[in-house]
Amino acid sequence: MSSFSAPSSAAAAATAPSLPSPSPLPSSQADSQAEEARPYCDTMPPPRPVAPAASAAIPANPKVSARKPAVSPRQKFRLAPGFGLMDWVRLKAASPDLAQRGGASPSRPVPRSELAEHGSQFDGWIALRGVVYNVSAYLPYHPGGAKVMLPTLGGDATAEFDKFHRWVAIEGLVGVLRVGVLVED
Ligand code: HEM
Repeated sequence: MSSFSAPSSAAAAATAPSLPSPSPLPSSQADSQAEEARPYCDTMPPPRPVAPAASAAIPANPKVSARKPAVSPRQKFRLAPGFGLMDWVRLKAASPDLAQRGGASPSRPVPRSELAEHGSQFDGWIALRGVVYNVSAYLPYHPGGAKVMLPTLGGDATAEFDKFHRWVAIEGLVGVLRVGVLVED
């Protein structure tokens, strides 16, 4: 039989060096109150008072505040109401034949001479990376405006397209406008 006996909790409290005075609350409640009052652990320094924002101390510069707000390069061209990206997405979903293929294959060969015949705003085709698209329906939705695209209608617009936005996903945006594949006459 062992001679060792665990000290009772009262005895342990009496012999402990200098523990904080016991709380009259049940231990779980006392713990939660202590948490609220002292959210940091004992090893952390107390929170420092927050200094006022540096900007608050700096008087407004009249030259700067008098300037006009900077115009985002994204706002170079303002689309008409109802011609935003989501409107284009809705139109695509609702229209069975925006490219006006009339049942022809989207992979049919389109000779360069045929492409050249479609150079007007309401019957405008362009070639991009070897694929021909009927972009008439897209013109009012083009974020860069219709005007900039007009001179490219009826021809290969790949160079101009890449000049402004080579990263734009052509198929994702105007894949439904595909007429065919550009071929030489
Ligand atoms: C079907 C073909 C095309 C599609 C799907 C298309 C799509 C787009 C998109 C999504 C933007 C916005 C880009 C952005 O905010 O970063 C844009 C802007 C623009 N696009 Fe196109 N585009 C097409 C053809 C063209 C062509 C052929 C030209 C030039 C002749 C052109 C000239 C521009 C210009 C100048 C902007 C404005 C760029 C800016 O504000 O920085 N786009 N286009």
